[in-house]
Amino acid sequence: MTTTESAPAPVDEVVLEAVGLTKHFPVRRRLRSLLSRTPTVVHAVDDVSIALRRGRVTALVGESGSGKSTVARLLAQLYPRTAGDIRLHGTSTRVRGGRPFRAYVRRVQLILQDPFASLNPVHTVRYHLTRSLRIHGNAGTGPDGLERALADLLTRVSLTPPERYLDAFPHELSGGQRQRVAIARALGANPEVLLADEPVSMLDVSIRLGVLNLLQDLKDRLNLAILYITHDIASARYFADDTIVMYAGRMVEGGDSETVTQRPAHPYTRLLTDSAPDPERITGAGADATGAGERGHGEPPSLIHPPAGCRFHPRCPHAMARCASELPPAIPVDDHPGHWAACWLFDPATVAAENGVAEEATR
Ligand SMILES: Nc1ncnc2c1ncn2[C@@H]1O[C@H](COP(=O)(O)OP(=O)(O)OP(=O)(O)O)[C@@H](O)[C@H]1O
Ligand code: SF4
Ligand SMILES: [Mg+2]
Repeated sequence: MTTTESAPAPVDEVVLEAVGLTKHFPVRRRLRSLLSRTPTVVHAVDDVSIALRRGRVTALVGESGSGKSTVARLLAQLYPRTAGDIRLHGTSTRVRGGRPFRAYVRRVQLILQDPFASLNPVHTVRYHLTRSLRIHGNAGTGPDGLERALADLLTRVSLTPPERYLDAFPHELSGGQRQRVAIARALGANPEVLLADEPVSMLDVSIRLGVLNLLQDLKDRLNLAILYITHDIASARYFADDTIVMYAGRMVEGGDSETVTQRPAHPYTRLLTDSAPDPERITGAGADATGAGERGHGEPPSLIHPPAGCRFHPRCPHAMARCASELPPAIPVDDHPGHWAACWLFDPATVAAENGVAEEATR
């Protein structure tokens, strides 16, 4: 088996990139919409841009339905995209099955939330790993080549001694061990990118850290680019180098994880961090731009008819007139390089105009 360990590539190089990625799912049409010219769609993902770099973990955080899994599936080329681009090493790629898809999957592997569902219960660990190694041409050569490659995979995910696990069935393993087998199977492709969709959310709290530590260790040793999808913004701080926050299909904030989680700028990110059980979080940090804590009234909006302007405006305690009609662009937050928020509060002209209106009203 060839590994990226033997051919180190520059750290921080962009491996996989989403540019303006958009996915609208058609919904079953009622008679009225059949007569209408505009098709009814779920705006699952709109204009998402992410660069996954070698040797870095990027967290994609957001509540249920915000579009995280759709982004992962688009990046895995499991869905056709509505708009935008996916670039592998800078080259635009669009693959739909067949040999090009297999070649793509060799470099970009998806790990799912539920390891029990992703492993076939009637097959052993040996079967799952052998299949992956063979499909991706990494089964080794010579009489012992396959056995060595299998032992190597299990050792990498700390399932040792390998012979104890090779002939086990999924139901004979714990949830954490099953997820390690799923990770080993992904590594059988010798990928450059791991797309990990909530890889620990179905595991016991006590074993989550071990699996996250394993992924971090693999990132360092194999120089992998990892997308880590999670509901849990506190784990993004611990595990990810960079964090992007999504709300209702759009990216609302991004930057290095320490800054985004400790000094969240966007009112929605503050809502997330306020409800995250992170005892180390410096309370009150990041409340300077608006001076208020977040409440987060209401529910996420309909993605069939998403709100105009900022999608968070119906829930936002700081919403201004402009927020309901104009979509805020990504605006730099001047506290750390690379920190941005899609929020008009960080546009001095908007805030000045709003203050002017307020002064006028009090005269
Ligand atoms: N195949 C599909 N057809 C129609 N709508 C879909 C489809 N897949 C996802 N959606 C919708 O797209 C939106 C985003 O879903 P997605 O699964 O990406 O969210 P998520 O952030 O991963 O949520 P969760 O945290 O619950 O996993 C949701 O409104 C969902 O109902
Ligand atoms: S743009 Fe307006 S509504 Fe949206 S988060 Fe910022 S202040 Fe709130
Ligand atoms: Mg999901």
